[in-house]
Amino acid sequence: MNPLFIIEHLEPKMWPWCIIEYKHMSKIVGKQNLLITNTKSKLMTGFAKTEAKSIGQLNPKNACILDPAATKTLTPTDAKQFDCFIFGGILGDDPPQERTKEELGSVPGERRNLGNKQMSTDTAIHVVWKIVHGMMLKEMQFQDTITLKIGNQEEIILPYRYLLKNNKPILAPGLEMYLKKMKGF
Ligand SMILES: C[S@@+](CC[C@H](N)C(=O)[O-])C[C@H]1O[C@@H](n2cnc3c(N)ncnc32)[C@H](O)[C@@H]1O
Repeated sequence: MNPLFIIEHLEPKMWPWCIIEYKHMSKIVGKQNLLITNTKSKLMTGFAKTEAKSIGQLNPKNACILDPAATKTLTPTDAKQFDCFIFGGILGDDPPQERTKEELGSVPGERRNLGNKQMSTDTAIHVVWKIVHGMMLKEMQFQDTITLKIGNQEEIILPYRYLLKNNKPILAPGLEMYLKKMKGF
């Protein structure tokens, strides 16, 4: 049976970029395997299960909390013992401020990292999905930081680690267009 991928929504609002990333996660793990907690928003009903309670109130069993500040790295063998994987639905700070530890520190379960670089949350889900299916972290290829050119002068920097596919970073579909629109292009 597939494990459940749980995102604790921690942003003050359901921003459009959250929806874009959550949709991407659903494409990776499937609607039945994706639960977004701590939100009353109905915007995800087509592609994820949602829950108004926060993960701390749900008392998850056999949980692995993905935290860059954890001391152990998740491996395929290790991953087999968990029924669910819990992620922070937050835009990362640059430099990282250990928000996952702060926000999910009291959730019962074991903590694991995915290396010492901060990934976007949808990338972190994708990486755990691959680990659950037998791939080691060291077998994956990454790019740290994406620079999106907009117009002739401006650029947007995404200071996170992304998985590479055919030498190109995997970005949530629609994210680049959304960010460019926000900048007025
Ligand atoms: C954009 S990251 C935010 C990380 C946050 N700045 C911090 O320092 O804890 C969003 C979520 O993706 C997961 N994540 C990202 N990179 C990770 C890593 N290297 N190891 C474990 N989890 C990671 C965590 O669940 C994290 O809460």
